[in-house]
Amino acid sequence: MSNTTARIFIDTNRIISDISPLVFSGFAEHMGRCIYQGIYEPDSPLADENGFRTDVMAAMRELNFRMIRYPGGNFLSGYNWLDGVGPKSQRPRRKELAWQSIETNQFGTNEFMQFCRMINAKPMLGVNLGTGSISEAASLVEYVNAPAGSKFADLRVSHGYKDPYGVEYWCLGNEMDGPWQIGHLEAHEYGLKAREAAKMMRWHDPRIKLALCGSSSTHMPTYPDWDRSVLEHCWDMVDYLSLHYYAQNADNDTSSFLASSAQFESQIDTLAGTLRYVKAKLRSKHEVTLSWDEWNVWYKNGNMQGNWTEAPHLIEEVYNHEDALVVAQWMNVFLRKADILKIACLAQIVNVIGPILTTSNSMLRQSIFFPFMYFSRYATGQSLDVLTQSPKTETAKYGEMPLIDTSASYDPATGESAIFIVNRSQDQALTTDIVWQSVAPARIKTIYQMAHSDVKAANSFEHPDTVVPVTLPGMPVNNNKVTLSLPPLSFTVITA
Ligand code: AHR
Repeated sequence: MSNTTARIFIDTNRIISDISPLVFSGFAEHMGRCIYQGIYEPDSPLADENGFRTDVMAAMRELNFRMIRYPGGNFLSGYNWLDGVGPKSQRPRRKELAWQSIETNQFGTNEFMQFCRMINAKPMLGVNLGTGSISEAASLVEYVNAPAGSKFADLRVSHGYKDPYGVEYWCLGNEMDGPWQIGHLEAHEYGLKAREAAKMMRWHDPRIKLALCGSSSTHMPTYPDWDRSVLEHCWDMVDYLSLHYYAQNADNDTSSFLASSAQFESQIDTLAGTLRYVKAKLRSKHEVTLSWDEWNVWYKNGNMQGNWTEAPHLIEEVYNHEDALVVAQWMNVFLRKADILKIACLAQIVNVIGPILTTSNSMLRQSIFFPFMYFSRYATGQSLDVLTQSPKTETAKYGEMPLIDTSASYDPATGESAIFIVNRSQDQALTTDIVWQSVAPARIKTIYQMAHSDVKAANSFEHPDTVVPVTLPGMPVNNNKVTLSLPPLSFTVITA
């Protein structure tokens, strides 16, 4: 192992933007064991009186999810929200087509609202624009947000929920560009339908904020023209353009995988450019920003067939150390792009490509749990434009990349700051100077670090502590500078 040097320059005057807390959100879908046996499992010894898993809720609070997107996902495009409200004994069992599973509807909109309250997260609700009509979409807004006195608001009251919920964030369908989507549409067809749905939904509640379906991946042949087209149809009616992406290392090219921040950054740059283009073309003063409402590593487990069973084990990805380093870089990008990225939802929150896995009486934190937790906890206030000088490494997919990937936050309200650093080198420890160019803190409070020599190392129920962070002591900042040694294949969080 060799030891080379890097330098990180921090200036609290070099502000990119406020960090939107909603970039620390999650996504829960009626898929596999995310809802049933994940969030909701009345038969578990760990369930509360409502059937919610208390251990899972505690983990959600640790992750400090600010908002949860629900109920899908591909599930959304075949879902009739009326199936999931009212007395549980009268809710239908349905063949759920997206994942070929049996949906019992024992968990629905009101249970979701209650769950969000329990974990102190905002809800983000999707409306079905696959099989669903614009009228059904509007009725859901009425059911959820209207005061008593009209049909669907009164239905909510009759179900025992007197007060409107005031749900602010809504998704206009899911991945409507994908041929796999139930009721998939061409861009102009979706643009027209989304616009009309938005119009009706806003008539019920003008305060709502709407996310339009952008491309479901950069791999789509219609990317990014789909985004341009749907934005041109809906610009003044929507607040966010959604983007989705799942990172993968199927060809086991770890150098390229560990440089995935280049992909994430370029996806945001392309869509930010598309937003600017449409705004200029339409001579609009209205702003639309980005909602990365599905993101994660996903490629090892492709089991998506439920074989008409309840809560089947679908895409229960096991996360290893290199996945955690990619998640950390992704969140670095969230901070570096804080001016345009305002929502991001980790897909998903439990069991299904999730940071935690459950059995009926236990729970496991996977490797990706920890980077999410640290960013969510410490990246507050403003994102800073960090200057890094680092040795480079050559990658097959992204060419030459710096060995370190960095972001930083400073919160003027509290005076607290954090620096997040991935050392993507597989064999080099980096002696790294951190230099404050404006006012420096007196001390580094604490350092949290994840490092492992085996990129494929993963936690399991038998060995839950294989890939976990360590807490290192703080140190004084002398002459505006500290020097650290960053191990190869590591993620370091410095709080001050
Ligand atoms: O998160 C799993 C699936 O991935 C979602 O249902 C869909 O939107 C995406 O393709």
